[in-house]
Amino acid sequence: MDALALCGSLRKRSLNGAVLRAAGELWAPRGGMRIEPSLGWLPFFNQDVEESGVLPPEVAEFRERAGAAGGVLIATPEYASGTSGVLKNALEWLVGGGQLYDKPVALVSASPSALGGDRAQAWLRETLTMMGARLVADGLLIPQASAKIQDGRVVDSATVKELDELLARLYEAGCPRPPSMPEAGRADA
Ligand SMILES: Cc1cc2nc3c(=O)[nH]c(=O)nc-3n(C[C@H](O)[C@H](O)[C@H](O)COP(=O)(O)O)c2cc1C
Repeated sequence: MDALALCGSLRKRSLNGAVLRAAGELWAPRGGMRIEPSLGWLPFFNQDVEESGVLPPEVAEFRERAGAAGGVLIATPEYASGTSGVLKNALEWLVGGGQLYDKPVALVSASPSALGGDRAQAWLRETLTMMGARLVADGLLIPQASAKIQDGRVVDSATVKELDELLARLYEAGCPRPPSMPEAGRADA
């Protein structure tokens, strides 16, 4: 299953960006994970532009990639108790296009704080629920992330495990298993 990963931070040494790179490696046996290069290239959402029917090429391409993905992983920083403007802007472009409708979406947030970006995730959950996305699991909070992510790599093995578990849930939601065959020889088979 091919997945799309969105990073709400534009920072070069972003903790959330590092989480997505680790996720890309963990995802490899399950398919391809494209990390959206930079949501910062998208223009600010403008309803007039959307209604004109002529979308800026960056937006049209972003919508295409979001629509084609079997699932979406979102890593958000927490800024002023919410998600980042850049991520919210990107999601606004997907509201009218419906690319996240009924799509499995998993959330992760890394923050140096003790709470791990829980308020940013709460914000995002409201927005994504309104968009009809299928949120998988509770989302992963990575508190005290500066100690767990060093030189752009997730070095905390418990965090890597939790991330892999979240990815497994995303995969299951995007590729539900076929109903299992009855076991041969079972009395109730
Ligand atoms: C303007 C600003 C506001 C912030 N507000 C919060 C906040 O409300 N809660 C929090 O946990 N961290 C907050 N932080 C710290 C960020 O979570 C931290 O810089 C984090 O590393 C940003 O994510 P990134 O590493 O992916 O770029 C804030 C940082 C900045 C610059």
